[in-house]
Amino acid sequence: MSGQRTAGSLRIKNLLPQFRSKPALPLKPPTIRHLQTIDPLARTLDATPLQLVAERLVDLEVTQVDATGPIETLTMSEARDLASLIEGDLIASRYQVERMLGRGGIGKVYLCTDLKTNAQVTVKTSLLPELEKHITAESDTYRALGRGRKNIVDCLATGENMIVLEFVQGEALTDFIINRPMTSVESIFQDHVIAALGIISDVFRGLEYAHDRGVVHADLSPDNILLTRGERGKKEVTIIDWGLGRAYPDREPGMMMGKPMYASPEQLRGEDIDLQTDIFQAGLVLNEMLTGRRPFRESSILVLIRRRLSGEAFETAGWTKSFAPLNRDLTLTIQNLILRMTGERRSEEEPGNGLVRFQSALEARLAVEKILAEIRPVASPLPPPNISPLD
Ligand SMILES: Nc1ncnc2c1ncn2[C@@H]1O[C@H](COP(=O)(O)OP(=O)(O)O)[C@@H](O)[C@H]1O
Ligand SMILES: [Mg+2]
Repeated sequence: MSGQRTAGSLRIKNLLPQFRSKPALPLKPPTIRHLQTIDPLARTLDATPLQLVAERLVDLEVTQVDATGPIETLTMSEARDLASLIEGDLIASRYQVERMLGRGGIGKVYLCTDLKTNAQVTVKTSLLPELEKHITAESDTYRALGRGRKNIVDCLATGENMIVLEFVQGEALTDFIINRPMTSVESIFQDHVIAALGIISDVFRGLEYAHDRGVVHADLSPDNILLTRGERGKKEVTIIDWGLGRAYPDREPGMMMGKPMYASPEQLRGEDIDLQTDIFQAGLVLNEMLTGRRPFRESSILVLIRRRLSGEAFETAGWTKSFAPLNRDLTLTIQNLILRMTGERRSEEEPGNGLVRFQSALEARLAVEKILAEIRPVASPLPPPNISPLD
């Protein structure tokens, strides 16, 4: 089957991923604004364009997003500066900008309405023309990943300097961490630990899938993990921003890519990266969920890199000290878990005496789930109903 590793190289193209269907994106009711802007005439009308709107609405084909279809290839006739779009602009004659959603080091992301399906989608484009090659690389990664996989953002289409993604309506893990600080109230502590372990276990699920397809993310951080509310209030995890994602082992020498704060030791040293790079970064994310603090003290990038290369440990101590009195065993168990995820060495053969990192996302996830099973409070049987005998 394609997708199997061949000697010395990985074939990540032409894979046949096992699709798992996702719930369709919610349909957004059409609004007048869409129609005003798709029809230039409507913009100039003094009278209310309601009539026109109603006529146009009938023409709009409304379909659900099909999460099992192929990733579309968009061809755009007009060369456009996609980095400076404003509300109402049309991208590829099809995606109408609602607002800018966010920007990172590489991309600008717009919330748009797909006028073909009437679904809300996001369009990512490069912040600067020089960064366009990253968008191309990210598109290739989505093609290797395939579509419709839970825990991985769904890519709908790609085009020149643009990627169309499902709109993940929720909060970034960064906000989750800021908004729900850890406290030393025992029940909150336990809930918090359960939530954090649940989230990281789903991150590992997404990573397992990507790694099976020969792709590593290499840029995991709380910004690139989005949370939505799933069934019964459970957080659903979506990993976004596969911009640095690539086939591994990565033999490109010497380049340190990604954020120094979350870089693995091998990334900092400019060495090959592999699936264990993602495990290291996931360990830092878990640590941050529990401490509420960034893993390393902020300083200039150069100082940060120098300190990290000299082996500065990340901050778990504060957390361990504060929470050990509440539940010493659990605190130590989780600390050991994080230390295994962030082990300095990737295999026994590597020199040094640091811990050896988990070998796969599956191994890490099983370790997380074992702890979860042990701490999840066993539902106590309902007390017998208190029925007074009828006279
Ligand atoms: N599919 C999406 N749904 C919702 N928000 C998104 C989506 N993709 C990106 N964003 C928002 O845009 C920001 C920047 O996107 P990202 O892909 O991380 O760009 P960069 O590569 O520049 O970091 C994200 O941190 C997030 O807030
Ligand atoms: Mg990002």
